[in-house]
Amino acid sequence: MKKIEAIIRLSCFDKVRDALGKIGVNFFTLKDVKGFGLQKGKTYVYRGSVYDEDYIARLQLDILTTDESADEIVRVIVEAARTGKVGDGKITVLDVAQVTRIRTGENASAAI
Ligand SMILES: Nc1ncnc2c1ncn2[C@@H]1O[C@H](COP(=O)(O)OP(=O)(O)OP(=O)(O)O)[C@@H](O)[C@H]1O
Ligand SMILES: [Mg+2]
Repeated sequence: MKKIEAIIRLSCFDKVRDALGKIGVNFFTLKDVKGFGLQKGKTYVYRGSVYDEDYIARLQLDILTTDESADEIVRVIVEAARTGKVGDGKITVLDVAQVTRIRTGENASAAI
């Protein structure tokens, strides 16, 4: 099993959610996140205010899935979340030791 952690722009969320829904992925955890990427310290000006390109709020989607589905999910997120500009985000795929559905006690892929 895998856990996919995808940091994306807020503005891409609807597109990513719809694209994931089309491949049957309607489950995820959402977190508000902030951070820095490669361009730490680089700023841009929007309507007279100075913003740090990396330190704008983003969303993190956490998705638990099977080994077989992980690559497709990553592909779909990349396609839906890419604008081509710096700051599009990052996706991490982690190995997961165990998943348990609390209601049924099911484990592993039966719990996904
Ligand atoms: N190496 C990293 N470790 C942890 N979090 C990261 C890392 N790189 C990026 N992030 C997180 O992802 C967010 C978006 O990163 P960003 O898309 O700017 O990555 P990048 O590597 O700088 O790529 P780009 O050059 O396209 O901007 C950051 O604000 C931060 O929260
Ligand atoms: Mg960056």
